[in-house]
Amino acid sequence: MGTPMLQVENLCMAYRRPEGWMEVLRDLSFQAAEGEFLCVVGPSGCGKTTLLRLIAGLLRPVSGRILLNGQAVTHPIRQVGLMFQKPALLPWRTALKNVALPLETNGHSRKEALEKARALLQWVGLEGFEDVYPAHLSGGMAQRVALARALAHDPSLLLLDEPFGSLDALTREALAQELARLWEERRTTVVMVTHSVSEAVFLADRVLVLSPRPATLAAEIPIPLPRPREWGNFPSFRPLVQEVREALEQARLSSLPPRRDSSGGSGWRPSAAPGPLTSAGAQRCSG
Ligand SMILES: Nc1ncnc2c1ncn2[C@@H]1O[C@H](COP(=O)(O)OP(=O)(O)OP(=O)(O)O)[C@@H](O)[C@H]1O
Ligand SMILES: [Mg+2]
Repeated sequence: MGTPMLQVENLCMAYRRPEGWMEVLRDLSFQAAEGEFLCVVGPSGCGKTTLLRLIAGLLRPVSGRILLNGQAVTHPIRQVGLMFQKPALLPWRTALKNVALPLETNGHSRKEALEKARALLQWVGLEGFEDVYPAHLSGGMAQRVALARALAHDPSLLLLDEPFGSLDALTREALAQELARLWEERRTTVVMVTHSVSEAVFLADRVLVLSPRPATLAAEIPIPLPRPREWGNFPSFRPLVQEVREALEQARLSSLPPRRDSSGGSGWRPSAAPGPLTSAGAQRCSG
C-alpha cells in the first residue's frame, strides 16, 4: 500500500485555561487510506471537534503531526472540506449563492461557480430550492446545502463534525442514507464525528473509538459490511453496533481512577472527566 492519504501521528493537544493547561488529546495516531470513510465516536467533551480542527489546520497541536498526502498540515488548505454541526450558511445569500461562494473565492468565474453550485444542489436533492434563503430551509435542507458547499471545491478530504446532530431521528436516518449514496458515487476520503453508534456503523469502513478526555485511541473497529448498505439491514449490523458500544464503555471504565476503598462505604466515585493538565502531563504530551 502507498502513502496513506491522512496520517495522524502522536498527536497531543492541550488548551490554556484560566485554571491551567487542560490536556485534550494524548498521543493519538491513526491513518486513513484514500477513499476511506472513517467515523470517530467518543464521549462529549473528549476532543473530537478539536481533532477535526487540527486536521483542518485551524489549530496547531502541542506535539505530533498531521500529514495529508505526505505533506505536513500547518495551516488551512484547500484540499480539505469542512462541515460543522450547525450549517453556518450566510443568511443573506440564497442556497445557490451559499454553495457558489467557495468557488468564487477560489478563482472560478461567477458563471462557472453558479453552474457548478446548481449541479451540486441538484445532486443533494435540492433542485428547485436554488433561490431560497437559509431562513426558509428546513434543518435537513440546510444541512444538504452545507454538504454541497463543503464539496464544492472538490476536496480530497471531507471532515464532518456531527453533520446531523441537530436533526430529528427520522431526518437523520434519511440523510445518513443519502450521504452513504452520495459517498459511494464520489468516494471522497471522509472523517466524520458522530454521537450515533448506529450511524457510525452504517456509514464507516472503520470506527475510531476515543476515550474520555484526554482522548486516546481506545479502539479501531473495522466495519466489513458490504455496500451499498441498507439501514440496519445486515445480520452483522447489530453485533458491530454492540462492539462499538462495548469499546466506548470499556474506555470509560478504564479512564476512571481506581475506586477508593472507603471503610465508611460512602460509594465515593470521582467524575470520569480528568482535571486540568498537570505539568507532568504537559511534559508527556510535548514528548
Ligand atoms: N478554544 C478552546 N479553549 C479552551 N478549551 C477548549 C477550547 N475548545 C474546546 N475546549 C475544551 O476542550 C475539550 C474538548 O472540546 P471539543 O469541542 O473538542 O470536544 P468534543 O469531543 O467535540 O465534544 P462534543 O461531543 O460535546 O462536541 C472540552 O472540555 C472543551 O471545553
Ligand atoms: Mg464537538
